[in-house]
Amino acid sequence: MPEMETALHPMPRARVQAMKEYHPPLGSRDALRLDFNENTVACSPAVREVLGRISMGDLTRYPEREPVEAIVAAHLALAPPQVALTNGVDEAIHVLFEAFLDAGDELLLPVPTYTMYEVYASATDARVIAVQAAGDLRFPFERLLSAISPRTKIVAIANPNSPSGSVATRQQILEIARRAPHALVLVDEAYFHFHGETVIDLVGTLPNLIVARTFSKAYGLAGLRLGVLAASIEHMRWVRRVLSPYSVNSLALACLPAALHDTAYLDWYVGEVLAARTDFEQALDAAGVRRWPSSANFILVEIGAQHSEFVRRMQAAGVLVRDRSNDPGCDGLVRITIGTREQMRDAVVALNKALAELRDASSRQAGETR
Ligand SMILES: Cc1ncc(COP(=O)(O)O)c(C=O)c1O
Repeated sequence: MPEMETALHPMPRARVQAMKEYHPPLGSRDALRLDFNENTVACSPAVREVLGRISMGDLTRYPEREPVEAIVAAHLALAPPQVALTNGVDEAIHVLFEAFLDAGDELLLPVPTYTMYEVYASATDARVIAVQAAGDLRFPFERLLSAISPRTKIVAIANPNSPSGSVATRQQILEIARRAPHALVLVDEAYFHFHGETVIDLVGTLPNLIVARTFSKAYGLAGLRLGVLAASIEHMRWVRRVLSPYSVNSLALACLPAALHDTAYLDWYVGEVLAARTDFEQALDAAGVRRWPSSANFILVEIGAQHSEFVRRMQAAGVLVRDRSNDPGCDGLVRITIGTREQMRDAVVALNKALAELRDASSRQAGETR
C-alpha cells in the first residue's frame, strides 16, 4: 500500500529532497593520510595533557564557550562579540548561510572550491552562481567582479583555496567587498598558517567582511571540531541567533587555550610542511607531473585519464590521496596533502612507483591493441 507508506513518512522541504548526498570518502584510513589536508602528525602535546586532566565531573556540565571565545578573540586581536566558536568551519558556513541566504539571494562561488559551500547553500532557497576559474585555476577575480549583482548576498572565498591552492590578494578582497557592499564577503582562512597572509585585521573596519578560521589543519584538531567565525558585532549577533549554544563541546573548549598557547609546536609543524612542500614540488617536477602553485598544505597535480587507478595504486602503496576529478575544471586532477619531509619522501617513492606502473600498463595496452 504505497499511499499509506507516503502518508506515514512526512517528506522534508523540497530543497532538501533535491540535495545531493555527501559522503566524504573516509573508509579505512590506516595509512599515510594525504587525502584530507589534515595535520599528518599530531596536535600539540599540551593538548594531550589537558585531555588527561578532564574529569568525569567535567563531562556532566554543559559546555561554556564564552570564556574561551574571549581567549580566542584576544589571540586574534578582536573583541569577544566579534568572534564565535563553532563546531568546525563547516558549522560556521552552515549557520552563516542559514542566517543570511533567502529566496532570491545569490551565493557567488569561485569554483573549483571547498565542497561544503555548495552543500549548505543547496539547503537554502538561494541560488549558487558558480564562477569558473580558468585552466590555470587562479582566483577568477575579474569574472567574480562581473558576476556581482544586486541579488548577491554572500561571496565565499576560500583563501588559500582548496583544491587549487591558489590565493586571492588583500587588494582583490578589498575590491570585492567595495563592489558588493550589500553582500557579505566570507573569507575562509582554513589554510592561513601555510600562507601567512590574512584579512582578519580588517574585521570591524570592513563592514561586510566575515572571516573563518579552523583548528582542523595546522593545529591538528580535526577530530575535536573547532572553528572560528569573526565579523562585525552586528553580523555576529545574527549568527549567534542561529548558532546552537552548545555545539562546541567541553573537550574542545578545554583544549583550545593550550593549542593556542603552544606556538612553538605550531611553528614547527608549519615550517616542516613548507620545507616538505618545496621538496615535493621538486620531486613532481623531476617526475614530469604538472602541478599548480599552492600556498597551502596540499598540491593539486595532473594525472590524466588514469586518475582513479593512480589513487588506487597509491593506496596500495600505503598513501591516501584525493581524486578531485569531479570538481569543476579538474578532470584528471588529484590533490595530495603535504605532511612532514620524511612522510613526503615516502610519498615520492609511492608516487614514482604508481606512475611507473601506470606507464607500463598503458604501454602493454598499446602493444596489445597494435
Ligand atoms: C576551505 C576549507 N574550509 C573549511 C574546511 C573545514 O574545516 P573544519 O574541519 O573546521 O570544518 C575545509 C576542510 O577541508 C576547507 O578545505
